[in-house]
Amino acid sequence: MMNFQGSHILSVSQFDRTAISRILQVSALMAPYAERKKRCHVLDGAILNNLFFEPSTRTRVSFGAAFNLLGGFVRETVGVENSSLSKGESLFDTAQVISGYSDVIAMRHPTMHSVTEFAQGSTVPVINGGDGANEHPTQALLDLFTIESEMKRFGKSLDGLNIVLMGDLKHGRTVHSLSKLLSLYNKIKITLVSPIALQMPESIVSALSNAGHQVIITDKIAGNLACDVIYQTRIQQERFASKDEANLYRGHFSLNKRIYQEYCKEHTVIMHPLPRDSRPEANELDTDLNDLENLAIFRQAQNGVLVRMALFALTLGVDEKLSQYEKPVTWFTKK
Ligand code: NCD
Repeated sequence: MMNFQGSHILSVSQFDRTAISRILQVSALMAPYAERKKRCHVLDGAILNNLFFEPSTRTRVSFGAAFNLLGGFVRETVGVENSSLSKGESLFDTAQVISGYSDVIAMRHPTMHSVTEFAQGSTVPVINGGDGANEHPTQALLDLFTIESEMKRFGKSLDGLNIVLMGDLKHGRTVHSLSKLLSLYNKIKITLVSPIALQMPESIVSALSNAGHQVIITDKIAGNLACDVIYQTRIQQERFASKDEANLYRGHFSLNKRIYQEYCKEHTVIMHPLPRDSRPEANELDTDLNDLENLAIFRQAQNGVLVRMALFALTLGVDEKLSQYEKPVTWFTKK
């Protein structure tokens, strides 16, 4: 079993099924705190440094909220322009310095493998919040947690899952990490729907096929969406040479109520890492799906808090001490 305490979380390739089960199990323990039924102050006095060198809403705020919910303090640096990286400082030097001010660091950066380079200079655990088009391990874990909890409603599990990943599979780091995690389960049917130029990297496709899963690669929606879960993604405009190039692919695979009713199954769950691009030319996930019970996107985003709380508890070695550090909630809560 992987030793979480003191470990960096850089890639999903670090995990086997036992490690994943432990993360998902600890995530579930966090629900009463996230729902404000109880408080937990097991990380009272600890400091998280959030270093976000690329745009982020959910990942940054949920990392911060997760740490606060366990009683810790959060400091943030947002944007390269506000950091000494813009003065030519190396990632290694920045890591040496910031890790001296922190107990744990969460980092997002536009360059592939940059978070690993940073971690080499850090004396405290570093959690990858997205490194360019490479990986987004915490998102993949929260996606897995979401798939498992959504499938439970239908008496299904991750083994035997029939999933469609759709959109920009070339640049989308969330689908890269999720595919790698799914390859650890049994008998997955995975349909990769994307424009031909934006297909899933070959190394990930072959890892899936070599693990014995059924992989279908297509650029057509018709006939390919009858699945348990459809995971829609955004065209990753920031990874293209120009906005015009990204525009070539926008709006090809918009999902709306009509397409859902025509091609999906009655129980098909819709996921999306968010943000969805709601501009009319993209509209990849139409708001006419908002009243659908199977639209899991906001439950998915909420699960991010639980999974990030679990990763902090595990890397800081307090996962078995949660109940000793509980307090009642004293303020009005709407739930
Ligand atoms: C994703 C990301 O940043 O990779 N967002 C997120 O963290 N939930 C997906 C995206 O930006 O399209």
